[in-house]
Amino acid sequence: MEKSKEKSKLIFSGVQPTGNLHLGNYLGAIKNWVKLQTNAHCIFCIVDLHAITTSGNRSEILQNTREVAAAYIASGIDPSKNTIFVQSNVTGHSELSWILGCHTPIGWLNRMTQFKDKAGKNKEKAPLGLYSYPVLMAADILLYKSTHVPVGEDQKQHLELSRDIAQAFNRCYNNDFFPVPEPVIIGNATRVMSLKDGLKKMSKSDPSDYSRINLTDSSESIKKKIQKAKTDSEPFPSDVEKLENRPEITNLINIYSALTENLLEDIISEYANKDFRVFKQNLADIVDQQISKISIEMKKLLADKTYLDLILKDGYQKAKEISEKNINDLKNIIGLFRA
Ligand code: AMP
Ligand code: TRP
Repeated sequence: MEKSKEKSKLIFSGVQPTGNLHLGNYLGAIKNWVKLQTNAHCIFCIVDLHAITTSGNRSEILQNTREVAAAYIASGIDPSKNTIFVQSNVTGHSELSWILGCHTPIGWLNRMTQFKDKAGKNKEKAPLGLYSYPVLMAADILLYKSTHVPVGEDQKQHLELSRDIAQAFNRCYNNDFFPVPEPVIIGNATRVMSLKDGLKKMSKSDPSDYSRINLTDSSESIKKKIQKAKTDSEPFPSDVEKLENRPEITNLINIYSALTENLLEDIISEYANKDFRVFKQNLADIVDQQISKISIEMKKLLADKTYLDLILKDGYQKAKEISEKNINDLKNIIGLFRA
């Protein structure tokens, strides 16, 4: 019998439809959502308004939006029990983003490291949307009065900002309208690194396809990528302390641990003194078993656009209902004229 969902808990998270969904997105975010869905109301968004903050991602946005929806469902998110929808469909996100922007000091935004990384050297040419990206993210979360937000490690700073914005708003109107959302950053792969460089995050935008395992990769390509993954010249570590300063092997062991849910200690004692190739072969099989299943299911779902679009339409209705109620309450709290 299914456990009844905790009424007070509301989980919200999202992925940008920017193409090349990868193992980092799966282990850092989506895999954890699958577990959380059993005991709370969950809203999983495809954040297309965030995706257009960088120019490289705009042309294939429609295809990428369906691909993220397919990845959610193929990974095990049940669309009949949760809300899956597209951010730009629900106008409350942009509306709340403006309202929250009016309560966010610029100094807070100036600290955001993701903006600094993405804007690069020429900040003057960066679009305003890239700068205010974290305010839109806070709006996504707070629009539904979300209490928990499961994400990868790279989103921690944005979540702290969302908490600060929620508190600033509540203080301003002497109200406790917004819950202060808790980040949920769990598992052994909260920051999956590139297979080519253990100091760089696995990323959708890395020009080398060998740096990441895509959720759409074939079995053959998964195995080849793991076999070619960078390691150092040292033997397999004999205990956890020996992982220090060995980012590539640490990353591979973390991936192994996240996929099998085995402890690092147990994995290390299983492979210590064995040939590295044995570890890589087994890791390749494990990644292949879990990711190929998702990849096959994604292909099936993407071949049936009518079904996917129906799910997104249903999700839109459910999200819109909550959004409209909360935006209405917010306008009353602020004291805006209602026609
Ligand atoms: P994005 O692709 O930037 O929309 O990210 C979607 C989700 O995947 C967020 O929760 C990120 O924190 C997570 N994520 C992205 N890259 C990684 C990575 N390399 N390791 C772990 N989590 C990641
Ligand atoms: N900024 C997140 C990322 O790049 C995506 C995102 C947008 C998000 N809105 C969100 C994640 C709200 C969690 C909650 O990964």
